[in-house]
Amino acid sequence: MKQQGAILWLTGLSGAGKTTIAHGVAQKLQKRNYLVEVLDGDVVRAHLSQELGFSKQDRDTNVRRIGFVANLLSRNGIITIVAAISPYREIRDQLKQTTTNFVEVYIKAPLAVCEFRDVKGLYAKAKLGQIKHFTGISDPYEEPLNPEIICQTDKFTIGQCVNQVLDYLEYQDFI
Ligand code: ADX
Repeated sequence: MKQQGAILWLTGLSGAGKTTIAHGVAQKLQKRNYLVEVLDGDVVRAHLSQELGFSKQDRDTNVRRIGFVANLLSRNGIITIVAAISPYREIRDQLKQTTTNFVEVYIKAPLAVCEFRDVKGLYAKAKLGQIKHFTGISDPYEEPLNPEIICQTDKFTIGQCVNQVLDYLEYQDFI
């Protein structure tokens, strides 16, 4: 197989645009006949991490599981796109160090913008105290210090952000 695997790790606040960009990138790659898989936090939590909550320990376990699966896929040549808040820097850095072709993509939007979008209505609930430990409201988000890519979704369209990721992959000869 000519294709080399990679892990595109999309991290950022809830509502920043991780899932949308992940599927946008996946679609464009599939059109070009690349083998791609998306691992989305919400989907993983509905299946593989059903018993986990949102404590630091549970989030780290969730992120480790996603990293493990991503690595299996990637080492078999599949471009694996992860969309998970993954709020803790240390574990993201660990994954970067222990896997190959790990591309950290910070999907960045100000908290106020994510709150305003409130796609799932979770920020409103978090602010009312109905959801505890909500990232950005009552739980930390540690920004990446050296991400390979920063997609600013409050300044650029989804299409522009998707192209930004594809340009990087081309520039790095991943595709
Ligand atoms: S992570 O922190 O473990 O990486 P993950 O991306 O899998 O999080 O799941 C986040 C999703 O769970 C959010 O998109 C949201 O729909 C839902 N969710 C429910 N409770 C919380 C919470 N307390 N903090 C963040 N997200 C939450």
